[in-house]
Amino acid sequence: MKQKILSLAGDGIGQEVVPVSLEVLKAVTSLAGRDIEIVHGLVGGDAIDKVGSPLPDETLSLARETDAILLGGVGGPKWDDLPTQERPERGLLGLRQSLGLYANLRPALVSPALVGSSSLKHEIVNNLDILIIRELTGGIYFGEPRGTDVRNNERVGFNTLIYSESEIERIARTAFELAEKRNGKLCSVDKANVLEVSQLWREVVESLSSQYPAVQLSHMYVDNAAMQLVRNPKQFDVVVTGNMFGDILSDIAAMLTGSLGMLPSASLAGSGVGLFEPVHGTAPDIAGENVANPIATILSVAMMCKYSLDLPDCAESIENAVNAVLDEGFRSADIAGSEESKKETILGCVEMGEKIISALAI
Ligand code: IPM
Ligand code: MG
Repeated sequence: MKQKILSLAGDGIGQEVVPVSLEVLKAVTSLAGRDIEIVHGLVGGDAIDKVGSPLPDETLSLARETDAILLGGVGGPKWDDLPTQERPERGLLGLRQSLGLYANLRPALVSPALVGSSSLKHEIVNNLDILIIRELTGGIYFGEPRGTDVRNNERVGFNTLIYSESEIERIARTAFELAEKRNGKLCSVDKANVLEVSQLWREVVESLSSQYPAVQLSHMYVDNAAMQLVRNPKQFDVVVTGNMFGDILSDIAAMLTGSLGMLPSASLAGSGVGLFEPVHGTAPDIAGENVANPIATILSVAMMCKYSLDLPDCAESIENAVNAVLDEGFRSADIAGSEESKKETILGCVEMGEKIISALAI
């Protein structure tokens, strides 16, 4: 059976890291003797420029008939002055919402070869392996009412932070199930000391706990969680939280690993298509120079193999190849200089992809 993948390179370095990562996908699936078909679509600023909308209908219908989507990134200074509803980011948010991709998995893993590039001390981050699970289709990102208005003769802006029980329950179940497969520790992050929505969040997560006896559940306020992530990140295994808290905490977690250029993510629904993208943005300052780090997107392809294509061997092969290449001292510019004692070779985006392909084995 041929599996179909939609490639949405998007903006900035997305145009570089996605093609390189697709080469890795083609190479690993051909090693595994699996047939895949890749189709290409437009999203974000690229789609605005070419067809006038950040999420063209054609992209959405392609997305609905594929097994998995690989997305580079959206946005850039060129489109910064557009109104919220017309910005490149709407393309990504619209995809997440239309496809019901409520579970966003953002692993933060410190690769042994890169421990020196973290801004934290070696002993705080070595062997770090945590998974942030961010609710992705609800909360303040999508809550109504939202907008701007004039009240008492001045402008006001407002958004709504709202979660229903069923939205909380389904993301909590995803988190409990993934925690069961890891080290059995789940921390739910909220702001229940101030927000009613967080009190409901905490109650619903707590009420499920007895169904997952192998998982040790704890709760933490988001401000404390941000602090603890930097103070002692290894106390965490799986973290589950709402949309905006997860947006913020996952950037902190990413930076623990040394570079945003290393972190993949998966956005999943209960079933159906999954969307895979690097956690990093479009890096307009380095776009088009072949210096971007493709590893976050290549590792997103590994997550795609694992979660959507049912190719766990391919996922492992990609992860091993990435580690092998890093072990040999090959670096992209953003992760160079992490180990003064070791000789490093700096590679461009395309060359890094080729190096990783040559290290693939199944
Ligand atoms: C992310 C990004 C997006 C978000 C933006 C680009 C809309 O920051 O995926 O973390 O806020 O979700
Ligand atoms: Mg973000």
